[in-house]
Amino acid sequence: MGRTTISAVRTASSRRFLMCRPTYFAVEYAINPWMDPSRPVDPLLVVEQWEALRGALLELGHAVDLIDPVPGLPDMVFAANGATVLDGRALVATFRHPQRAPESGAYEKWLRDRGHVEVRCAEHPNEGEGDHLVVAGVVLAGHGFRTAAASHAETADYLGRPVIGLTLVDPRFYHLDTALAVLDEEQIMYWPGAFSPASRRRLHSLFPHALRVEEQDAVHFGLNAISDGRHVLLPTPACSLAGRLASEGYEPIALDVSELAKAGGGPKCCVLQLRQPEPPARP
Ligand code: ARG
Repeated sequence: MGRTTISAVRTASSRRFLMCRPTYFAVEYAINPWMDPSRPVDPLLVVEQWEALRGALLELGHAVDLIDPVPGLPDMVFAANGATVLDGRALVATFRHPQRAPESGAYEKWLRDRGHVEVRCAEHPNEGEGDHLVVAGVVLAGHGFRTAAASHAETADYLGRPVIGLTLVDPRFYHLDTALAVLDEEQIMYWPGAFSPASRRRLHSLFPHALRVEEQDAVHFGLNAISDGRHVLLPTPACSLAGRLASEGYEPIALDVSELAKAGGGPKCCVLQLRQPEPPARP
């Protein structure tokens, strides 16, 4: 899987995302090593950065739905963690930390009100798309910090896809989407240092042609990237990665997400992909 060539022509496909305005965004507690409540956050700048991300997605032809932010839930802007939505089924998150637990109810309600998706709440800790990445017909599932390995069977059963568990070992990369990004149907990029030796071997055997990214780009949340198969939205400081993606035929789009980074997040954390049901197979 995942061979890239310099002459490859990359094709974008349009997506539907759910996002949450950072109206109540703040760093009030520390549940990952990036969060320091004594460091100030600029409330106007974070809104500007989030609007620029939303604007960039709309300009690329993607659809963006909005969920109302809830006062007292400063991390709710990270919509990726709300659920995993695939083929019209939503598995709503069960958060590891009590500070984020009430977000589940808000995402569950939004998904139920929407009507045409089947909704279930995860039994074990399961932080949605933060730890679940869909590629090549499977779900890559991180565990070690947030999502419990015990949740993978439920995810596979409910979403009807094989789940490949990957062990995260570096606390700076506490969600899978900080350590690995899906670029297109079958190509990924990742920083091997975030994974256990067994998971590294697994990734290598599944994706022998994956882009292996430098730690320096990973620490700037370069892997917290949103790709539509052609355009790759990633944080500005991950510039060497942007150059590499360009040489692989992708179009990198750099975004300043400095305020979100103070909570340990980047562009991809702010979007939950709403994957529609597969159209019925033709006879
Ligand atoms: N402060 C949030 C937390 O620690 C950041 C979540 C980032 N989300 C993500 N999908 N990686 O939970």
